[in-house]
Amino acid sequence: MNITIFGSGYVGLVTAACFAEVGNHVVCVDVDARKVATLQSGKCPFYEPGLDGLLTSGIEAGRLRFTTDAADAVRHGTYQLIAVGTPPGEDGSADLQYVLQVARTIAAHLDDYRVIINKSTVPVGTADKVRSAVSEVLAQRGVSQDYDVVSNPEFLKEGAAVGDFRKPDRIIVGADTDRPAELMRSLYEPFNRNHDRVLLMDVRSAELTKYAANAMLATKISFMNEVANIAERVGADVELVRRGMGSDPRIGFHFIYPGCGYGGSCFPKDVKALAHLARETGFAPRLLDSVEAVNHDQKRFLHAKMRAHFGSLAGRTIALWGLAFKPNTDDMREAPSRELMEAIWADGGAVRAYDPVAMEETRKIYGDRPDLTLVESAEEACEGADALALVTEWKPFQSPNFELIASLLKEKVLFDGRNLYNPETLRDLGFRHYAIGRAA
Ligand code: UGA
Repeated sequence: MNITIFGSGYVGLVTAACFAEVGNHVVCVDVDARKVATLQSGKCPFYEPGLDGLLTSGIEAGRLRFTTDAADAVRHGTYQLIAVGTPPGEDGSADLQYVLQVARTIAAHLDDYRVIINKSTVPVGTADKVRSAVSEVLAQRGVSQDYDVVSNPEFLKEGAAVGDFRKPDRIIVGADTDRPAELMRSLYEPFNRNHDRVLLMDVRSAELTKYAANAMLATKISFMNEVANIAERVGADVELVRRGMGSDPRIGFHFIYPGCGYGGSCFPKDVKALAHLARETGFAPRLLDSVEAVNHDQKRFLHAKMRAHFGSLAGRTIALWGLAFKPNTDDMREAPSRELMEAIWADGGAVRAYDPVAMEETRKIYGDRPDLTLVESAEEACEGADALALVTEWKPFQSPNFELIASLLKEKVLFDGRNLYNPETLRDLGFRHYAIGRAA
């Protein structure tokens, strides 16, 4: 099959590489000529486990190519996927300008039947807007051409995106007629063998499913963070509570880990966008706003504990382990580490930070500044620091040599933003261990 994908970000590239892997011919089109050149040389512009190899083999097999030439790209694929960004606007609404621009570009070159597939996370009603944008351009061209618009949201997790694509737990297809629905079934056939994972529904329900799923996951996290804050105040241990709750299959163990707040390019943006969408209809969401508010406060949790411990952070240096918003990615978007570092700096403190892959991203964001030292190892971060803060639970941080760490720090203080460490072990070594929802 011939597939065209607009947008070479996480979603676009993972989708492209995985479709090419199973024998399709995929063309990726992006407006960013530098990015296209990087991709043509076989390099992935971000860190995603397994993606580099897939891109290279797709290119070598001649089934995957990259271009800035939209006319060529529209000619290529019966399937035209839109996987461009929908960044949040000032009011929390999703900014659809890139999606609609792609729709107009497709329409400008449309001369055969195409199915236009919205993969970007978009508010309910976007497929209608895409249809209007396409029709408008076709009318301007004086062309009458058959096409369909479907919604096909993705559920990839960064750091595990290739595996998620190869083995989806559901393939949501929002299509209002049979022709595009059948085409979508054929497209996903290789990923839908033994169990039928295609959930066919109307376009609007598909669009809402994506937001609702992300908002539900964010809700679970904020709920647990709230329970953690209560646990701390009533002298309970949230880790025991979590296990007790998760054993109920109706609750389950997934996504109930308290921490220093959720980040990334999806949850913060999607919770706000869904709340905004609700308000636009005249309905005031109550849960969604609270989910967001709890997370906002939770991202300040470690800083508040530092202040409470030290009084003032002026002149203090904090060793920071983990910069990416979660392990196995170099993505720094809405990362809790950023808010923490910025708060420390605002107080006149400094940071010595280490992350297994996100150092370059951090450098790009903050550049050279005297109050940020990016170091080569977890241990080096601790050298001469007043305390250690664990922000992202990367595997290499899971079993540190605490005796060595204690000897490197000025004070044995650890702020554990992911409840990664055993309080007893740390207590025995003389550490003051501040965690989430458990006694210090
Ligand atoms: C999320 C969803 O999990 C995907 O299903 C979805 O496709 C994606 O957004 C998207 O919309 O594109 P992602 O942003 O990659 O994926 O990250 P998650 O693994 O969901 O983690 C999000 C944040 O929640 C992280 O900061 C993580 O540390 C935090 N988290 C997660 C917790 O604090 N507690 C938990 O129990 C789980």
